Amino acid sequence: MKRDRSELLTQTGSGTGAGKTLRQYWMPAALSDELNSNRPLVPIRLMGEDLVLFRNENGELGLIDRQCPHRGVDLCYGRLEKEGLRCPFHGWYFSTDGQCLEQPAEPEDSILFKKIKTTAYPVIERNGIIFAFMGKGEVPALPTLDCLEAPDSHVFSFKGLWQCNWLQALEVGIDPAHPSFLHRFFKDEDPEDQYGKQFRDTAANTDIPITKILRDYHRPQIELEETYYGIRIKTLRHLEKGQTHIRVTNQVFPCAISIPMSNTMTITQWHVPIDDQNCFWYAMFTSFTEPIDKAKMREQRLAEHTLPDYAPLKNKANQYGYNSEEQKNLTYTGMGMDINVHDQWACESMGTIQNRAKEHLSTTDKAISAYRRLLFQTIAKVEKGDLNIIGAVMNENDDSIKGPIALDAIGSTADCDTFWRDGDAKRKANCPWNADL
Ligand code: FES
Ligand SMILES: [Fe+2]
Repeated sequence: MKRDRSELLTQTGSGTGAGKTLRQYWMPAALSDELNSNRPLVPIRLMGEDLVLFRNENGELGLIDRQCPHRGVDLCYGRLEKEGLRCPFHGWYFSTDGQCLEQPAEPEDSILFKKIKTTAYPVIERNGIIFAFMGKGEVPALPTLDCLEAPDSHVFSFKGLWQCNWLQALEVGIDPAHPSFLHRFFKDEDPEDQYGKQFRDTAANTDIPITKILRDYHRPQIELEETYYGIRIKTLRHLEKGQTHIRVTNQVFPCAISIPMSNTMTITQWHVPIDDQNCFWYAMFTSFTEPIDKAKMREQRLAEHTLPDYAPLKNKANQYGYNSEEQKNLTYTGMGMDINVHDQWACESMGTIQNRAKEHLSTTDKAISAYRRLLFQTIAKVEKGDLNIIGAVMNENDDSIKGPIALDAIGSTADCDTFWRDGDAKRKANCPWNADL
């Protein structure tokens, strides 16, 4: 890929092609957890823009430019008050929508404050994530994805920092061949101990560990389908005796994936640019059975990250915990059993922004190629002012962006096209909340 083509996909500043496209969708900006303090205010860097997110004393959220529009000081040091945020330099006071409400050093009869409105973006809080909309045109509704429709009790949200461009982080999630290698374990763990972990369950309705299927059948057949929300990726591994394992995963346009975590949970994960060199993954773990044990899920993940940066403890500076003995005997990478670390290594070790002029895409990269084509097409549409784009919610009653179905299933090879839908229907029929069919 030529450099200018690659830059069109990877750069996300406000005037760039991908930047304008990503801004037309709700983007995760923070975890609700981050505002759980006696001073609910955090700095946010999103697609290269520096902002401040706060909750006023009325409980309303605001996301405004980090620099005061008066003389440019940092509003992260502002005073939180009933309606909004007050700059400590000269006391200018801003409401959650960025409107200046007071300029207490100006003459009594001054109305200059009415003309000052700083950059502010709409936000919505749902199931542990605060989403921001930084685009043009009407502010859309949130899509009716399972993770956003489920009750708060059935969703756990978390995030983590990766020091690389957002696109390579997304692309690892739509590469269905890599788990057979990167996440290979030479021994199967006890599936009883799988709660909150990925690739540790058994395939649906069998006692075969997913890890074994991935290890033994490493040449998957990959089928793609374009949908309302993005791309459905069906990964088939043909087993013995006319049986096939299918793993249904999804690219949810523009920067999320939705994948199965276990038989009862899915993960919807956004790869959000902080700037062009860093990104956060934001994951919503959604349960289709019992309420989620959030304390356990949080504890598992906090043990691997430092706050307030959500930076992983294993990283480039400590070789991701690489151990050559472990690589011989236990795991394919030698980087422990946490598959997030494997993915992080894969993405970060390509270089901060992968040089795509030197890559050679192969058969297993077909979802990556399809996604890049879709992103190029969508960027071209947005440049022309056409906002009727894939994955966009067009009006409040638009529920076309549903699900998506994400699961592992085994069935007869002859029924490959249907048996996974039956598995999903069964899961949803027994779901205690109203999961859409
Ligand atoms: S710089 Fe903020 S009020 Fe003067
Ligand atoms: Fe992975």
